[in-house]
Amino acid sequence: MITVNFSPQVDTAKMAGILQELKADPMGGWIELPKKVNAEEIARIKAAAKKINEDSEYLVCIGIGGSYLGHRAVVEALRPDSGLKIIYAGKSLSRRELEYTLNKVGDKDFSINVISKSGATLEPSIAFAAFKDKLIKKYGPEEAKGRIYATTDAVQGSLHDEAVNNGYTMFVVPDNIGGRYSVLTAVGLLPMAVAGVNIDELLAGALAATADAVEPAIRYAWMRYTLAMNKYDTEVFASFEPFTEFFNEWLKQLFGESEGKNGQGIWPASVVYSTDLHSLGQFMQEGRRNLWETIIDYPTDEMNKKVVHAVMKAHTSGGIPVLSIGVSSYDAKGFGELIYFFELACAMSAKLLGVNPFDQPGVEAYKNELKKLI
Ligand code: PA5
Repeated sequence: MITVNFSPQVDTAKMAGILQELKADPMGGWIELPKKVNAEEIARIKAAAKKINEDSEYLVCIGIGGSYLGHRAVVEALRPDSGLKIIYAGKSLSRRELEYTLNKVGDKDFSINVISKSGATLEPSIAFAAFKDKLIKKYGPEEAKGRIYATTDAVQGSLHDEAVNNGYTMFVVPDNIGGRYSVLTAVGLLPMAVAGVNIDELLAGALAATADAVEPAIRYAWMRYTLAMNKYDTEVFASFEPFTEFFNEWLKQLFGESEGKNGQGIWPASVVYSTDLHSLGQFMQEGRRNLWETIIDYPTDEMNKKVVHAVMKAHTSGGIPVLSIGVSSYDAKGFGELIYFFELACAMSAKLLGVNPFDQPGVEAYKNELKKLI
């Protein structure tokens, strides 16, 4: 169950209209997704996860942005121990990082999950080529094919075509779900299942959120909008659990790419306390007052809870609006709820700011410049 500690004067008619618009949007497939879980696909995901665990020491997860951050966020937060290690690749164009990941796998048994909806993104394409080469050298071309799991579009793209032509095990990114809203599809479910996350519980949490989290998400979206209209232009996501650092990264991508367009948007930043109280705490307490803090209040131990209360008091007295989002359980179910809550709140917030939550035209600008250079 998600709880929020604020009750703004919501224009309920406006928000009902926005919800309807989102449900009708061709990219709004994630809204009803938890209610339409495909049992056959979940069984395929679990079977693939089992095979990978049986024949591999490493899973090389290749993807970037929405094809990477969500599942890593949950895996890092829960740190289940399936015995297998996940290595992330294709999330930069650094040769140093690529060589490090190749060396890290070394001569161990491994499989690859390459995740790209478009199938054409440069970072994962380059990493995939390098790891595929390593796989073929180690196992030969035929066995290598059986160790590649491609998560991509159902009908088009170069990754799709390659997967079909070579008989890789394929999982689909639904047409009506964009990258940053795709963590509850095979994009996130396969790597999470491989890592040992209980994906049934995760999906059960998301399903519960389709009923329970709507009202808190509306309040949160409205609160953000109110703050933005009152010259607060930066939101700092704060958590007190170090393992949730990547959940903050997922949030930054979700909100940044959904809202930052047409001269609009709230800059998403993040901190993990108490570590960052000793680096950014000074700024939070006394710096420029253009920001607010959104605490994700995970269930935590008594000592850490005291830090949460101390920070809320101190920062409120320092003139920062402090919002708190409470999560009932620190487990797969709790993260399923949180993911759905934030996706919904984010899409509604973007609509309130008058922008399309589902496109990312600005990402193309850098890609085009790079294309000219290479
Ligand atoms: O949210 C998004 O749409 C993006 O962040 C994409 O996920 C990211 O650019 C990767 O795209 P693709 O999955 O097509 O490789």
